[in-house]
Amino acid sequence: MTVTETPLLAERMSWIEESPSSRVADRVRAFQAAGKPVLPLTIGEPDFDTPEHVKEAAIAAIRAGETKYTSATGTPALQTAIRARLARKTGQSYGPGEIALGGGAKQLIFLAFLATLDAGDEVIVPAPHWVSYPDMVALNGGRPVLVGAGADTGYKLTPGLLRGAVTDRTKWLVLNTPNNPTGAVYSRDELAGLAEVLREHSRISVLCDEIYDEINFGTEPVPSLVSVAPDLRERIFLANGVSKAYAMTGWRIGYAAGPATLCAAISTLQSQSSSCPSSISQAAAAAALDGDQSFITETVAVYAERRDLLVSGLAAIDGLRPVRPDGGFYVWTDASRLIGAITPGGRRIATDADLAEHFLETSGVVVITGESYGCPGHFRASFALDSETIRKAVSGLASAVSALRFA
Ligand SMILES: Cc1ncc(COP(=O)(O)O)c(C=O)c1O
Repeated sequence: MTVTETPLLAERMSWIEESPSSRVADRVRAFQAAGKPVLPLTIGEPDFDTPEHVKEAAIAAIRAGETKYTSATGTPALQTAIRARLARKTGQSYGPGEIALGGGAKQLIFLAFLATLDAGDEVIVPAPHWVSYPDMVALNGGRPVLVGAGADTGYKLTPGLLRGAVTDRTKWLVLNTPNNPTGAVYSRDELAGLAEVLREHSRISVLCDEIYDEINFGTEPVPSLVSVAPDLRERIFLANGVSKAYAMTGWRIGYAAGPATLCAAISTLQSQSSSCPSSISQAAAAAALDGDQSFITETVAVYAERRDLLVSGLAAIDGLRPVRPDGGFYVWTDASRLIGAITPGGRRIATDADLAEHFLETSGVVVITGESYGCPGHFRASFALDSETIRKAVSGLASAVSALRFA
């Protein structure tokens, strides 16, 4: 039954779809249930375990009875750890009222849109984009305005593209650096160029999603828009969290920094919906942000090796053009040359979804289609996996591609 046929569900449920990653997960489960092996290059979370000292902090919190509701903005220890981390990262000092806490960066981004969007407000989302932004905007009554930023601009929004997308209904620009799915990292100069355009439009705020900022293969820290353009600080909402950097996806802690009015609105929404994130996870997150950071250095070195393995493996396959990521743990690959090819069974690969299905059927390799990220003809492959699995997946992809013929 579709949403519109049932009186139970609100109309807004027809504005969004199940996330492509859950669809893929269902497909993988069906394959596994049929006893077929799969090589899931779809993983969107670190395969490392949460650091030991973080787990210990959570256990200590349980033993100390830190098992009650906290303020919607978090425990004092976590507040302090977040503010110190933001100061180290951005050079900006954020007051307690300029911080929001949530059950992951995802919830904070959702609440930011809920708190600010009126019907018809536009949100500029550079594509390729993280799968959730457009649906979050739509669900909150806004209009996602997808702006294609392709290979010619290094998959990054340029001042010209931004200028061309602004209307008098634009409320937000979403800027995700390092980007999921492309791994693109905006340089200081590129951010400065975008800031110039933003100065021409005082009504536009920027949602900077920096959740992958610690998984960085560059020699310099990933620059933050607020450091490059501190004059825009009152219009910048920084979303971050402990999920990716500290392998803590299941702990569900995200934090944000931004204008006090917005942070207060988010806390009000939080207090009326979930009260606060888990007190135990908060203790763990404080230990992660505050404690020994060697986990990050060690895991980034491992990610870097796997990145090279996956990029070189994909680059050696005729018809695939992988993009070497500067951050995050995904390789974005242009597969457009394979569109139009014919499978051994005589089926024509008409879309990147057909191509992904061919990979799955012939080699058990699972990738996420470019279409899911607003950029067909591509796919995203994760390297949050051990090297052996990456090697097997690359060899599976190579045989799947070589089985194709061109009419
Ligand atoms: C770009 C991006 N932003 C936000 C999130 C959500 O992170 P969290 O676990 O903190 O909710 C993800 C998770 O995949 C992501 O890829």
